[in-house]
Amino acid sequence: MYFGCDYYPEHWSEERWEEDVKLMKKAHFNIIRLAEFAWSKLEPKEGEFDFSWLDKAVSIFSKQDIQIVLGTPTAAPPLWIIKKHPDILPVDENEGRVSSGTRRHYCPNNSIYRDYTEKIVTALARHYARNKAIIGWQIDNEFGGSENPRCYCNNCKEKFIEWLKDKYDNLQSLNREWGTIFWSQTYNSWEEISLPLKRVPADHNPSLLLDFYRFSSHSYIDYQNFQIDIIRRLCPYHFITHNLMGLFNKIDYFKLAEKLDFVSWDVYPWEYHSRGLGTMTIGLIHDLMRSLKKKNFWIMEHQCSSVTRGIISPSPKPGEIRSWTYQSISHGADAIVYFRWRPSLFGAEQYHGGILLHDGSPESKSYHEIKSIGEEIEQWKDILAGSEVRAEIALLTSYDVQWALDIHHQSPDFDYFNHFIDYYQAIRSLGFQVDIVHPEGKLSQYSLVVAPNLILINQKIVNNLYNYVKSGGILLLTFRSAVKNWNNVIMDEVLPAKFKDLLGIEIHDYYSHPKGHENSIIGKEDSFCKEYKVNTWSEILDTSTAKPIAVYQRDYYAGKAAVTLNKYGEGKAVYVGTRAKKEFYKDLINYLLDKEGPLSIIKAPYQVETISRTKEERDFIFVINHTPESKFINITTSCKDILTNKVVEGTIRIGPYGVFILERLKK
Ligand code: GLA
Ligand code: ZN
Repeated sequence: MYFGCDYYPEHWSEERWEEDVKLMKKAHFNIIRLAEFAWSKLEPKEGEFDFSWLDKAVSIFSKQDIQIVLGTPTAAPPLWIIKKHPDILPVDENEGRVSSGTRRHYCPNNSIYRDYTEKIVTALARHYARNKAIIGWQIDNEFGGSENPRCYCNNCKEKFIEWLKDKYDNLQSLNREWGTIFWSQTYNSWEEISLPLKRVPADHNPSLLLDFYRFSSHSYIDYQNFQIDIIRRLCPYHFITHNLMGLFNKIDYFKLAEKLDFVSWDVYPWEYHSRGLGTMTIGLIHDLMRSLKKKNFWIMEHQCSSVTRGIISPSPKPGEIRSWTYQSISHGADAIVYFRWRPSLFGAEQYHGGILLHDGSPESKSYHEIKSIGEEIEQWKDILAGSEVRAEIALLTSYDVQWALDIHHQSPDFDYFNHFIDYYQAIRSLGFQVDIVHPEGKLSQYSLVVAPNLILINQKIVNNLYNYVKSGGILLLTFRSAVKNWNNVIMDEVLPAKFKDLLGIEIHDYYSHPKGHENSIIGKEDSFCKEYKVNTWSEILDTSTAKPIAVYQRDYYAGKAAVTLNKYGEGKAVYVGTRAKKEFYKDLINYLLDKEGPLSIIKAPYQVETISRTKEERDFIFVINHTPESKFINITTSCKDILTNKVVEGTIRIGPYGVFILERLKK
């Protein structure tokens, strides 16, 4: 287990470094991240590298056994590069050149920028390859984390055309696949293709948009992998990671993660809470991050104070940093790196909180809390080392699907993520754990697979899902499945197209609900023979081999099937043709699985999260109270609390933001 912070020695005088390292040691820190924005100090003038200050910082920390992750500094190109080569600045969708003066002011496809990148990354990697204090690298910082992550410069246009040539081989096939005959868009030469700029009189071709989104994503992945290749060659003993941004979806994170040793991400709970998204959302993102490589992950930036620019956000309440930290660990984090050690006195983020306050004194609320978390981790870190989350259920998503649904929203109330999280919440509330898997991914280990709105389909996905059900899996598909091919073109088949046989239904009519409009369905099976409100979208299902398990209540399609179940091979395929209220999903999944999940040995109220990490046959269940009030939980099987060493069973109180780590004593 790694525990530490993001540190910016370049923001402080050297005398202060010694003081900081002492305080970090007292808090049981064993890791820091350095240098991810320090290019102008590492290469103050073209070709003149100066790593002496960083060497000094590295040596001070390593003497105290604090290990180091180095960031490659490419998220902040120094101004001398931009002055010499202003074309490196990206261009936004209004064809405006983005200015320098902040950070992330580069186009990932610019070949001159690649040359500079190669030089600085090579110099750093060579210099630190054999330094024992350095254990790994973070490439760049939060790819895509700017106002305009998709670049529309001429260079990108040329690269996009190359990318299209590679994909479609010839123009005829591109014209056919994109349907460019629509609005007279047929291309006679590759050069006629333009980027989907914003200032156009009408809507762009959705196939062009989807391919451009893929290309933009690929541009960052390619730029990242360019850096990875350099470091792998020069530093074979170091790990390589990148700090991802949770729900950010302009880069295909499954692909971005491929060449990394593990994924890291930056968790700022306040950002989600201020958008009305709860702790459940953060849990889901942790699960997504873990699932990208099916591996434990790092938190490279963890909120530890206010997250602030001009307006100062509330700082965490006493105990809240601890509950967030344990939430991260419980979902599979093996490192907690708090952002940041001490707030800067200057610069754009001068109000952004840190573990210390601006004054640098250890008498800060965050320092005290983090120090005691550090002490606590010492107690259990060996016991939990090597443990991981094992999930029984998979939720499927792909960035291609998310992009297709960003391009065409389908219905005024449709929100892919809200729909997705309703299923997640239902599954979690039944005591199950969840992996988030790509639809082409391996599914055989899951007892249930839920795939919301798989609007795009390809043959690999079709085969994968048929095989999963054939060999005994339970698959749940929803409305807007298999409508389009992988190039975002609608298929001329009766819906649900490629899934007709699997689902045993046909769809000859659907209804897009106007904003706020509702209907209801009624369950036909004993366990959910109730009325549930539905909205957003309703498909009217005709069954062939499937049986209806819920029917619509009102309107011209009253009595028609809304939800169906089809036995196929050894398994079952369920189709939910509408968007129901949360309660329905819980009842439906309960009915399908006919059992509660392993976490249901602990009955906990809403906002008290349970999740377990397993090591060999030992289960460690984290119980986390995400509220400022005490709550009661009921433990139905005796467990040992790893934090207090007491055996607990029955009804017990969990204090405000309280945490238990319970080892289950009997199976
Ligand atoms: C991101 C960045 C950091 C910092 C924080 C502030 O996560 O990676 O450099 O800007 O946001 O919240
Ligand atoms: Zn560009």
